[in-house]
Amino acid sequence: MEQTTYTLDQDIQDFISNCMTLEHPESYLIAVLHKVQGRYGYLSEKHMDEVAHLLQVPTSTVFGVATFYHFFRLKPAGKFKISICLGTACFVKGADLVLDAFKTELGCSLGDTTSDGMFSLEGTRCLGVCALAPVVTINEQVFGNVKPTQVSEILNKMKEAKVEA
Ligand code: FES
Repeated sequence: MEQTTYTLDQDIQDFISNCMTLEHPESYLIAVLHKVQGRYGYLSEKHMDEVAHLLQVPTSTVFGVATFYHFFRLKPAGKFKISICLGTACFVKGADLVLDAFKTELGCSLGDTTSDGMFSLEGTRCLGVCALAPVVTINEQVFGNVKPTQVSEILNKMKEAKVEA
């Protein structure tokens, strides 16, 4: 189906057009998706369609890449962005159990946002504060040595403190 109008900002369209002049333009897909997410905060279905069309790759490829990498999000982030460090030091100290506790408390999975739009859950690479492992950040706030049993308390604190994004 021919698509002639795009909702992506012009500079992103220009970036993709420039990629199309280079060898193997499809190899810039991840870079393009980073730009789109950086601008809009997440990858909407419409934007992924437009990227596929402009970069001349199948929509299924774009969707496949967007869902494969945990740093891409397919929904707008919540008011509180919860990032669980999944780096080696944190993982060894039980980050997976902390993540499970957040999933259970929030009723949402990694890369997802709660239905009230309050919390989103994402994994992140090493944050460079391994001595505090396992580490969780919520917006700009850092929580170290987090235990699964503290998750409920942390979430309540966020709700009460109304920490700003
Ligand atoms: S591995 Fe989590 S802060 Fe380094």
